[in-house]
Amino acid sequence: MNQRLKRIRLFIAAIVLLAAAAGLYSCEKYQFLPPAVDPNYEWSLANDIQPIFNAGCVSCHGGTKAPDLREGKSFNALTKGAYITPPGETSGLYSTMIEPDHAPRSSDADKLKVKYWIDQGAKNN
Ligand code: HEC
Repeated sequence: MNQRLKRIRLFIAAIVLLAAAAGLYSCEKYQFLPPAVDPNYEWSLANDIQPIFNAGCVSCHGGTKAPDLREGKSFNALTKGAYITPPGETSGLYSTMIEPDHAPRSSDADKLKVKYWIDQGAKNN
C-alpha cells in the first residue's frame, strides 16, 4: 500500500476515535442533568398533561380506581379529590407521581410538566 493511502487511513482512524471519545464524554457530562422542561411555557391539560395520563395512568385509573384520569374525566376527578391544589411540589398529584411505586409510570420530564401545570394554576386548558 502506498504511503499516502496509509496516512489517510490513519487520519480517518484518528477522527473516528476522537468522535467516539467525544461521544462518551458528552454522555458522561449530560446524563444526570434534569430534563429540559420549560417552567415558563404555558402547559396545557389537553395537549401536554392528558397524554401523560393516557400513556401511563388510565390502565389503572380508568374509572374504577380514583382518581379517574380518563380524557374528559381527569380534571373533575383531580379537582374534586383536591389533587391539583398549587403549588405543584406539594400537590397530591405530583407527590403521588414521585412516590417510589408510582415513579416508574411517567418520565422525569412528564413529572415536571405536571408540576409546572399545577404551579400555573392547574387550569382546564
Ligand atoms: C398499575 C396500576 C397503576 C398505575 C399505572 C397508576 N396508578 Fe395511581 N394508583 C394506583 C393505586 C393502586 C392507587 C391507590 C394506592 C396508592 O395510593 O398507591 C393509586 C393512587 C393514585 C393517586 C391517589 C393517591 C392518594 O394519596 O390519594 C393518584 C393521584 C395517582 N394514583 C396518580 C397516578 C398517575 C398520575 C399515574 C400515571 C403517571 C398513575 N397513578 C398510574 C395504581 C396505579
